[in-house]
Amino acid sequence: MSSRASYDLIEDEEEEEEKSVNPTEVKMSQIVMPCHCNHRQDLSVGQLLKWIDSTACLSAERQAGSPCVTASMDDIHFEHTISVGQVVNIRAKVNRAFNTSMEVGIQVSCEDLFSDRHWRVCHAYATFVTQRTNTGKRVALRPIVPHTQKEQVEYSVAAERRRVRMVHDDIIKNLLISGSIQQADRSLECNTVVAEKTKVESVELVLPPHANHQVNTFGGQIMAWMVNVATIAASRLCQAHPTLQTIDMFTFRGPSQVGDRLLLRAIVNNAFKNSMEVGVRAEAYREEGPNRHINSAFMTFEVLDDSGKPCPLPQIRPEPHEGERRFQEAIARKKIRLDRKYIISRKQSEVPLSVPWDPTNQVYLSFNNVSALKMLAAKNNWRLSTEKDEVCLYTVEQKSMLSFRVEAVVDVPAHRAFCLLAELSNRTSWDTHYKKCELIHRVDDDDLIYRVVTPSVHQDAVASPTSSNQGERILQDFILLASKRKPCSSGDPYVIALRSVSLPSYPPFDGYNRGEVLCAGFTILETKNNMSLISYYNQASPEVLPYISTDIAGLSSSFYHTFCSCSHYLAKNRLQPAF
Ligand code: COA
Ligand code: ADP
Repeated sequence: MSSRASYDLIEDEEEEEEKSVNPTEVKMSQIVMPCHCNHRQDLSVGQLLKWIDSTACLSAERQAGSPCVTASMDDIHFEHTISVGQVVNIRAKVNRAFNTSMEVGIQVSCEDLFSDRHWRVCHAYATFVTQRTNTGKRVALRPIVPHTQKEQVEYSVAAERRRVRMVHDDIIKNLLISGSIQQADRSLECNTVVAEKTKVESVELVLPPHANHQVNTFGGQIMAWMVNVATIAASRLCQAHPTLQTIDMFTFRGPSQVGDRLLLRAIVNNAFKNSMEVGVRAEAYREEGPNRHINSAFMTFEVLDDSGKPCPLPQIRPEPHEGERRFQEAIARKKIRLDRKYIISRKQSEVPLSVPWDPTNQVYLSFNNVSALKMLAAKNNWRLSTEKDEVCLYTVEQKSMLSFRVEAVVDVPAHRAFCLLAELSNRTSWDTHYKKCELIHRVDDDDLIYRVVTPSVHQDAVASPTSSNQGERILQDFILLASKRKPCSSGDPYVIALRSVSLPSYPPFDGYNRGEVLCAGFTILETKNNMSLISYYNQASPEVLPYISTDIAGLSSSFYHTFCSCSHYLAKNRLQPAF
């Protein structure tokens, strides 16, 4: 945990939202005692993970009404250290129940009793699974009904996080196959430590205090043991006390019980300029029988100087074969961590426009695309701006951003509307702003990249002096990632999310202004009588602002006409294929 980041104080306004009663919410408060601390008198991450896991497990069991186990814990980034004498407040609630698994959201904050300040330490998402009953089946979960706007957002985005979780292992594999990994720099051999020197092997006997009432080992306890050996390995590289910055996703592959011996092995896989990756493998065994693989995790450590700045680290010389492979894989994981941090920001306003797309960040761009639209749709302060023939235009202002939503019930089944609208090239047949729309890359069945050409909204826009179209009004083009999602469960809408990306093979063309879309798209909700509530959203970038302002001011009804044209197109094609 680092003490460098600025303190993210918890504001009263946010606390208000949290005050609504959620039946799955569980809170734990602990005063940090010396026995919970490391050598610097800061709370050890292992202890914190045990508290996080216990709180989350109690929340999951409230929803399930039966025993649950930790299946996984998503990546955690620690923003701050917590000192002895301070209070840790942990709040966990179930964001969404799927079939037999559920996502629990956990907020950790620190309270200074003397100054009465509270600040965020980290947030985490854990997946818990109900245990099998005597019949061998897992208990099926009741669905969660979100009440507040924040719960609605978490509920909606949880489906997208689950999707990312399921492909997590494949992302690493694909990245390695794609061969984009750099070779180790062997030129600076002077300050080098052989990896073997950092190797740790340690055993733990699982006793009743390490397990729950079902004699299953607590996931938090295993994570704490893993952090312990990883810290020793990291210390051996830097010969100092390292600080744990980030933990990658923990996945519990199989259960462990009281009486198991847990074999924990760790080694530094790679050391970068200021941070190092330590890998840990946990296996369980009994006196007889094979070792069972329980968990493998990767942690990033830094060494901080007195002013909190990260210090340069020695290089690592990996062991041959397996060590070399892990050295390379650590580089791949570092790229993934950076992509995640860059793209999956919790605040949409901090996400850059037109992120360069590549196959390795695709999953995060797609997540960002869909979650941004879901978050926009879940806002509770939409205001009706104009209404004409039951086509409604709503607006919402957030900080300096204006967004709009055009909505109407259309006589078309939701699935059919989804198919028609998800194929963006069809849009030229109903949207006069779409002059051209070509599919330039099919990433997979759910994610496609298009180039869209529209008239430029800048009235004075003319082609550049070097352009062959000199003097003519120029056009505008967009490179858009379209991510389409079917409902995860009944009551969810279909989603088609659009955002700008950049592709090296499609640089801005001469004669075209390159426009950018931060967040746009459709949600389609099944309504009565096989009809659909179709909503179109757009977070207004400068490119669309002139259109919106004239509509909102009542000077034009361009949205109304475009939406009517869309409705006619959908109704006309409600049965037969579009083309
Ligand atoms: N992350 C998140 N969810 C996961 C998951 C993972 N890594 N692996 C499985 N799941 C979910 C599945 O999506 C499914 O959810 P759904 O029913 O809501 O659709 C649910 O878990 C059960 O899947 P199933 O196929 O029946 O189980 P499995 O055979 O894949 O086993 C575990 C999954 C997690 C139950 C199993 O690996 C296990 O027992 N792990 C150890 C758990 C434990 O004891 N933890 C404490 C510390 S050891
Ligand atoms: P991988 O080798 O593909 O990384 P593993 O699950 O085998 O996956 O191991 C996870 C991590 O645990 C490794 O990256 C390594 O850092 C550490 N590790 C595995 N085996 C050992 C070992 N025998 N000694 C020390 N550390 C180990």
